[in-house]
Amino acid sequence: MRDVSKIFHMGSMLSRIRITAVEHVSFRVGPGEIFGLAGESGCGKTTLARMILGFEEPTSGTIALRGRDGQPIVGRRAWRRAGVQAVFQNPFETFNPLRQVERYFFETVQNYGLAGNRAEALERIERALQMVGLSYEAIAGRYPAEFSGGQLQRASIARALLSEPSLLIADEPVSMVDASIRMSIMNLFRDLVDRLGVSVVYITHDLATAYYVCDRIAIMFRGNIVAMGNVDKVLMEPKHPYVRLLMECVPQTDPKKRWRAKVQLSASETEEYLRAGCKFAGRCPHAMDICKQEVPEEIYFEGQMAKCHLLRVSQGVQ
Ligand SMILES: Nc1ncnc2c1ncn2[C@@H]1O[C@H](COP(=O)(O)OP(=O)(O)OP(=O)(O)O)[C@@H](O)[C@H]1O
Ligand SMILES: [Mg+2]
Repeated sequence: MRDVSKIFHMGSMLSRIRITAVEHVSFRVGPGEIFGLAGESGCGKTTLARMILGFEEPTSGTIALRGRDGQPIVGRRAWRRAGVQAVFQNPFETFNPLRQVERYFFETVQNYGLAGNRAEALERIERALQMVGLSYEAIAGRYPAEFSGGQLQRASIARALLSEPSLLIADEPVSMVDASIRMSIMNLFRDLVDRLGVSVVYITHDLATAYYVCDRIAIMFRGNIVAMGNVDKVLMEPKHPYVRLLMECVPQTDPKKRWRAKVQLSASETEEYLRAGCKFAGRCPHAMDICKQEVPEEIYFEGQMAKCHLLRVSQGVQ
C-alpha cells in the first residue's frame, strides 16, 4: 500500500464532517509473512482491510498485489479470486444457518471456475479442507449449527484457500471462538504461511495473540500507522507513547500487574479524528506544544518506525 487514504463524509448537509479513516498509510507485506494490524476500536483497521479486498476504493494512494508466483495481479476479478480472500470474525455469520456448509464450497469453485466437473471440484475442496485439518466427509451434509465455532472458523479458512490466494485478510478471526482453541487457529495460520507461502494480514485488538503469531506489526491510531516494525521490537521495546500505554494493558502473568489499564478514553472518537497535529496528543502523557500543532513525521529508529515528535526531541533522531 502506498500513501493510501480513505475519507468518509458523515452527518447531514448542514453539519457535514470529514473523517479520514485511513490517512497516508504505506506498508508492504512480504510473501509468507504474517503482518499484524492492531489498534483500538474505530482506528480504521476494517476500512484498510476492505480497501485491500477491493470492497472499497481508496480516496487516494495505490494498492498493488502480487501472486504467489511473484507476478502482479491485475483486474478486479483476478484480484478477488487469486489475489486476496477474507476470513471474518464470526464464522456463524459467514455461513447462512439454513444452508449446508458444503454448498459454499461448491459455489466458490463454480464462481471462480476452479474445476471442470464435480470430481475435480471435490478433489479441490478436499485438498483445501485437509489443509485446515478437516475433510469433505467431516462437513458433508452438515449445517453451520452442527459445527463448533472453531471447526466452522477452520471451514471458513478452507473456503478462503480454495482459489489459492496470495493473501488472506483475517479480521479478528479468533475473537469469537473459545479461548481454548484460539491458539490452534493461530497455529493454523502459521502453518499455512509456512506450507503454502500465503501471506496473512491479521487484524486484532489483542496484542497477546499478535505477539504470538505475527512477524511484523503496525499499530494504528485514528487512521494513522503510529508504529511499525518487527513484532519483537514494536511490542517489547515500544518507542511510541501509545504503544507503551497499550502494552501496559496487556494481561501479565504476574496477577498483581494484570490489567493496569492506563489508557484514558476521554476525547471522543470524532474529536480525535478531527484533531490537528498528532491525533494521540489529547491522551498522551508526554504531549508537547508542537504535538497539538504539527503532524509528526515517521521516524525510523532502532529497527522500528514511530510517528512521534517526542522521539526526535528526546533522541535527537532526524
Ligand atoms: N462506510 C462508512 N461511512 C462512514 N464512516 C465510516 C464508514 N466505515 C467506517 N467509518 C468510520 O471510520 C472509522 C474507522 O472505522 P473502522 O471500522 O475501519 O474501524 P476498526 O478499527 O475496524 O474498528 P473495530 O475494531 O471496532 O472493528 C470509524 O470512525 C468509523 O465510524
Ligand atoms: Mg473492524
